[in-house]
Amino acid sequence: MRAKRCVAPMMTALLTLCFLAGPPSQAAPGNYRSPVSLVATDDGKTLYIAETTANRVAVFDTATQQVVREIRVAQLPLGLALSGDESILYVTSATPRGGVEIVDIARDQVLETIATGHTPVAAIAHPDEKTLYVCNQFSNNVGVIDLDQAAQIKTIAVPREPVTSALTANGRYLLVANHLPAGPANAEHVAAVVSIIDTATRTLIENIDLPDGSTNLQGVAISPDNRYAYVTHILARHRFPTTYLERGWVNTNALTIIDVKEKRYVNTVLLDDPHRGAANPYSVACTADGASLIVTHAGTHEASVIDRVGLHARLLSARDPRRFVSTCTSTSSTSFADPAYVAEDVPNDLTFMTGIRRRIPLAGNGPRGLVIAGTTAYVAEYFTDSISVIPLDAGKDEHSLSIPLGQTPPMTTARKGEMLFHDASPSFQNWHSCASCHSDGARTCGLNWDLLNDGMLNAKNAKSLLLTHQTPPAMATGVRADAETAVQSGVLYIQFAIPRRTHTAPLNAYLKSLEPVASPYLIDGALSQAAQRGQRLFQTAGCTQCHRGPLYTDGLRHRVGTETAEEPRGRFDTPSLIEVWRTAPYLHDGRAVTIREVLTTFNPDDKHGRVSTLSEDELSDLIEYVLTR
Ligand code: HEC
Ligand code: HEC
Repeated sequence: MRAKRCVAPMMTALLTLCFLAGPPSQAAPGNYRSPVSLVATDDGKTLYIAETTANRVAVFDTATQQVVREIRVAQLPLGLALSGDESILYVTSATPRGGVEIVDIARDQVLETIATGHTPVAAIAHPDEKTLYVCNQFSNNVGVIDLDQAAQIKTIAVPREPVTSALTANGRYLLVANHLPAGPANAEHVAAVVSIIDTATRTLIENIDLPDGSTNLQGVAISPDNRYAYVTHILARHRFPTTYLERGWVNTNALTIIDVKEKRYVNTVLLDDPHRGAANPYSVACTADGASLIVTHAGTHEASVIDRVGLHARLLSARDPRRFVSTCTSTSSTSFADPAYVAEDVPNDLTFMTGIRRRIPLAGNGPRGLVIAGTTAYVAEYFTDSISVIPLDAGKDEHSLSIPLGQTPPMTTARKGEMLFHDASPSFQNWHSCASCHSDGARTCGLNWDLLNDGMLNAKNAKSLLLTHQTPPAMATGVRADAETAVQSGVLYIQFAIPRRTHTAPLNAYLKSLEPVASPYLIDGALSQAAQRGQRLFQTAGCTQCHRGPLYTDGLRHRVGTETAEEPRGRFDTPSLIEVWRTAPYLHDGRAVTIREVLTTFNPDDKHGRVSTLSEDELSDLIEYVLTR
């Protein structure tokens, strides 16, 4: 085993001279670090922190609590993993051309870059030390990287947008969190799933379904005994009109427990309190002794420390209501005090965490990744360029300390808007942020919502906010004149907050700053032959009549045969087709999962483009083109 790279304080200056990378660089405005993920050495002395927007990995000494150096890596470092001997750091570059950089830590040198799929966001090293698994978010697969061959040798398809994974300690099973639901949004059950991959056969063996409304999966952790997995996500109450936010009637924030041994869903618990949401649960980790689970809340800037033994005892007792009595009431009419309380009531019970969880406010803003080193939890705080240190020693009253990773640069208006967009503090009782429904860079959550701007009982699919300011009017029916009005009403009617200019102006600036991500259907950035043929068909089939110009919209409302009993007039604003490859499900009510369904199943009379006369090959070419936008 190589020497560990923990740096004694007095050696810092010397090492700084030897290494290519210097001490934390000076911060120019706009030069943010945006830490997202972090890993720790086994001895807990060193942390590696992905500074996502700075294209660096910070090396943090936990004894002196400071950054001792920074390693320059490729664009958008997001996923981090350490080799068994801790000499090599694997860093994913979460870009369309995606790759994993193999970094020799001692030499501060990138040895090579292994090509992966589109946007690898997480990496995990198998204990065999030969394999690395990466979550290729927009290729919708898990890449298997053979480290000897230095190549991605296989991909395992998963339902939709794998964003993080965890391995059982014996390396047998890989649990993968799929960020969004993959099905139609108007179905009776709409939820994202957790995929279980058998690493021996390198196949997907099970998709564990979560309760209806589960979306925005972010974190997964496995207990040290390999028995349970814990998954963080939003549990949306999307079947109800968004008339009132109190007690989580719009979004609740949840942790699902999966029995890894039996490969089955156990239950889902709410992390909220009855009168205060714990918005946007992000990472989850289990302490080495299995006693506690730690969850970060990106929207409320806090961490939950959960008594894991107490949690499981309570889950068991849910079938036996006499075991304990809660003093508060829950969202549902049943509570632990009710003799009828059963396991099915747990996902509706806002008092479930009472007495078995402590909420620890963090000093920084936007907590995301989490790592436990020894008896301390470290949390990456995205917007304040800091990490929080939470001592977990038994008996101590936890408090956190936020340590800056370097100079904090002044925030641009757009950055401030990005922060507010992900912040649940302005929202009534902190139930949700804009990102709860417009997740992953202000795109979609895959669910339908019955907002009140266009009447009741006519749910609409959550729209991506990319290009919203350039494509007025806003909303599927065009009821809002422009995005500014939609932003204002979002703050007022969805967050139940007063839309002040100091709030809405940065939100608008942030949304205007969003840029499209290159489609995974492009080949080296260009159209395939099929897509080129499809491009011509896009004209001849009449698509450009409405999907016109560089943003593929004429800004007008049309009837394309998608009317329903709820929307009998059936006039909808032509949506832009930019990034349509990632915004499924489609149409105003999210009924279509694929572009093919939009053009065939839900276009029987050619009211939505002249498609019925196309041959099968032509249709495929047209779809191929649309998916490259
Ligand atoms: C409860 C889920 C939810 C939350 C929270 C939410 N939105 Fe939305 N948003 C939606 C849905 C659903 C639509 C599409 C509605 C429609 O088409 O009628 C939408 C549409 C929009 C649009 C119009 C997009 C377009 O191009 O037509 C904007 C802008 C917007 N939201 C901004 C925000 C902002 C800013 C916030 C936070 C203050 C926010 N939203 C919070 C669900 C949500
Ligand atoms: C008459 C105007 C018009 C024509 C012609 C037209 N579209 Fe559309 N398109 C629309 C409207 C309006 C919607 C939204 C319908 C809804 O939400 O129910 C839409 C929705 C879509 C969507 C779903 C987008 C999303 O985000 O939900 C796709 C994909 C699409 N059109 C592709 C095409 C293609 C390909 C053609 C040519 C074959 C075409 N359209 C022709 C007006 C048109």
